[in-house]
Amino acid sequence: MTVCEYKPGLEGIPAAESSISYVDGQQGILEYRGIRIEELAETSTFLETSYLLIWGTLPTTDELTKFEDEIRFHRRIKYRIRDMMKCFPETGHPMDALQASAAALGLFYSRRALDNPAYIREAVVRLLAKIPTMVAAFELMRKGNDPVRPRDDLGYAANFLYMLTEREPDPLAARIFDICLTLHAEHTMNASTFSARVTASTLTDPYAVVASAVGTLAGPLHGGANEEVITMLEEIGSVENVRPWLENCLERKSKIMGFGHRVYKVKDPRATILQNLAEQLFEKFGHDKYYDIALELERAVEEKLAHKGIYPNVDYYSGLVYRKMGIPTDLFTPVFAIARVAGWLAHWKEQLGENRIFRPTQIYTGSHNAPCIPIEER
Ligand code: CMC
Repeated sequence: MTVCEYKPGLEGIPAAESSISYVDGQQGILEYRGIRIEELAETSTFLETSYLLIWGTLPTTDELTKFEDEIRFHRRIKYRIRDMMKCFPETGHPMDALQASAAALGLFYSRRALDNPAYIREAVVRLLAKIPTMVAAFELMRKGNDPVRPRDDLGYAANFLYMLTEREPDPLAARIFDICLTLHAEHTMNASTFSARVTASTLTDPYAVVASAVGTLAGPLHGGANEEVITMLEEIGSVENVRPWLENCLERKSKIMGFGHRVYKVKDPRATILQNLAEQLFEKFGHDKYYDIALELERAVEEKLAHKGIYPNVDYYSGLVYRKMGIPTDLFTPVFAIARVAGWLAHWKEQLGENRIFRPTQIYTGSHNAPCIPIEER
C-alpha cells in the first residue's frame, strides 16, 4: 500500500462519494440535490427541503403532506425523556443537553433494522420531529418552567418558536426562521457530517449518529461560531471601535468569528441571504445597533483579508437574525443542529447505501522497542 501525504484537517481529501449537496467555493454556489440554495430559500420550506435532501427528489403535494403529518404526530417527547432533561444542570450548555437527549432517544427506540425502509423513515421522522421539542423543553426547564406541548395547528418553524417563547410567533418571523433552517440544512463534508458518516459506518443506530454529530457541531470552529459572533460584536461595542479592535485582533493573530471557510473563498451565499433576512426583520421589528457594527466589520475585514479569501460565512449574520427573534445566544448552535439533522440523516442514509466502515490510517511518529521502566525507577 502506498503511503499518502498527510494533510492536516484532511483538506482536499474526499471522504465519500455523495449526491446530496455541492459547493463551489470560488463562485459562491451551494446546491442541494442540484438545486440552488437561493431558489430553495425563496420557494421551499424546511420540511420540503429535508425531504429533498433525504429522499433525493422534491416531494409531490401528497408526499409532502404525509411527511408533514407524520412529523407533526411525532413532535411530542416521552415524559421520561422530559424528566431526564429536568435533571440536567441549568448551567449546562444547551448543546450538551441536546447531545445527551438525542443519544437518549436510542434507549427508547432501540430496534435497529437498518435494511428496513420503514425503520429508516421512522427514525428520520422521529429525529426531525423531536429535536426541536427537546431544544425548547431544555430552554424552559432550565428557567424553572414546565415545557409546553407542541401545537399541531402550527407549522414546523412556528411551532418551535412557540414552544421556545410560549407565544405564537409573527408570521414573518416564522417564515424567516424556516428559511434559516433551510439554509443550515446541509453543507457537504463538514466536520459534523463527517462525524455522522463515520458513526453511521459502524451500523450503529441513527440516534447515536445524530448525537455524535451534535457533539462535533458544538465546537467554536464549527457551529459554535454563531454564538461567538454575537459575543464579538458586543465586545467591539461601537462602530468607531471596529477598526482599532480589528487591528488588535490581527496583531494577536486571533481569528475573527464568522469569517473564513475551508471551501468558500468568496462571501458564503447563505451569509448574503441571511443578511437580507436580518434587514427584513429590522425593518419590521426595529433596528439592531450590532448590525451597523457587523457591516463596518465586514468592510474592514474585506480591506485587510480579502486577498486571503476571508469573507463572512453562514454564522456571521445568523446570530443577528436569531437575536431579533428573541432566541438566547447559547441556543444559536442548537438551532443550527435542528436544521442540520436533515443533512446528517441524508448522509446516514447515503452511507448505509454503500457502506464500508471508516478506518483511515495514521503516520506513526512515536518510538519503537521502548523500555517499560518499573514505576519505582521512573
Ligand atoms: N480571521 C482571521 N484570519 C483567518 C480567519 C478568520 N476568521 N479564518 C482564516 N484565517 C486565515 C488564517 O489565519 C490563515 O492565515 P495564514 O495563512 O496567514 O496563516 C488562513 O486564513 C487560512 O486559515 P485556516 O485556519 O488554515 O483555514 P481553515 O480552512 O483551516 O479554517 C475555519 C476554516 C472556518 C475554521 C476558519 O476560517 C475559522 O476559524 N473561522 C472562524 C470561525 C468560524 O467562523 N467558523 C464557522 C465556519 S462556517 C460554519 C461551520 O462550518 O459551522
